[in-house]
Amino acid sequence: MKTIAIIATGGTIAGTGQEGKAVAYHAGEMNIDEVIQSIPMINQVAHIKEYQIMNVDSNEMNPSKWITLANTINDIVKDDEIDGIVITHGTDTLDETSYFLTLTLNTSKPIVITGAMRPATATSADGPYNLYQAVCLAACEEAREQGVMGLFSSTIYSGRDIQKVNNYKIDAFDQKDFGCLGYMQDDEVYFFSRSFKIHTFQSGFSQNKLESLPEVAIAYFYAGASSQILYDMAMNHQGIVIVGSGNGNYSQEWLKAINELSLKGIVFVRASRVSHGIVFDDEIFDPQQYCIAANTLSAQKARVLLMLALSHTQDHQEIENIFNAY
Ligand code: SIN
Repeated sequence: MKTIAIIATGGTIAGTGQEGKAVAYHAGEMNIDEVIQSIPMINQVAHIKEYQIMNVDSNEMNPSKWITLANTINDIVKDDEIDGIVITHGTDTLDETSYFLTLTLNTSKPIVITGAMRPATATSADGPYNLYQAVCLAACEEAREQGVMGLFSSTIYSGRDIQKVNNYKIDAFDQKDFGCLGYMQDDEVYFFSRSFKIHTFQSGFSQNKLESLPEVAIAYFYAGASSQILYDMAMNHQGIVIVGSGNGNYSQEWLKAINELSLKGIVFVRASRVSHGIVFDDEIFDPQQYCIAANTLSAQKARVLLMLALSHTQDHQEIENIFNAY
């Protein structure tokens, strides 16, 4: 039988509230061993080692906690006894953590991130079944070298592309236009596709221990938005991700500010407030080609990549190559 490390960080899967109710609860309250005890079947699938690294609502996640998580997992995977990793996490910022780990974990062992939409004390909580299937996936030989995967509602997603698309239903995730990597039926794993983007053991960002990350902000464009926000952000950030309209677009006022601030060394990435599609370079909205296209990354994922890119290089072309590769 395989040995799977469960790394607990908190979230609704460890949330508690009024017995039986699904709302008005606090995330990250219950210890992961209590959740595991509620799933006796898990012990028929794998030997479990638990690591309660933190116990927080995922809205308390931040770059310093990501670094702690990545460095801890990179240490744990060095243990030959560990065959795979499952991370329990709040669903609200899971998309950011999963992409950060996709870029920074140096392992070919399966890494699965999961959580829940209903707290552990709810009637028909979804967490225990998600956790059970996450362990089954992490113990699956075919899951090796697939990078970080998300597991929700019997569906396998790529850590790069997973996004929360519903703030209410238990089937709360998708991975944009890319469908999913596969499905699960109880403990059975069925893969149908894979991510072709660079991840985990192939990633240039997973080779060295991280200590800190540069500051990168996100600026949301809307009709009539003042460009003052860009000047304010530029005072204490090295990079800014624009959440533009359509193909990452913005007004002439924002274009003027972006051009001025780019010349002062601020690195801009253009993402889109539209959740599906791809942002390409654009000669009309960015005639000087100062902005780097986020491609299919959401703004919050583009921020993760820009922070890591800026910790390696300031070179515009190199950062653009990074955005095309990851
Ligand atoms: C959180 O993200 O920690 C709270 C919400 C959730 O887990 O669904």
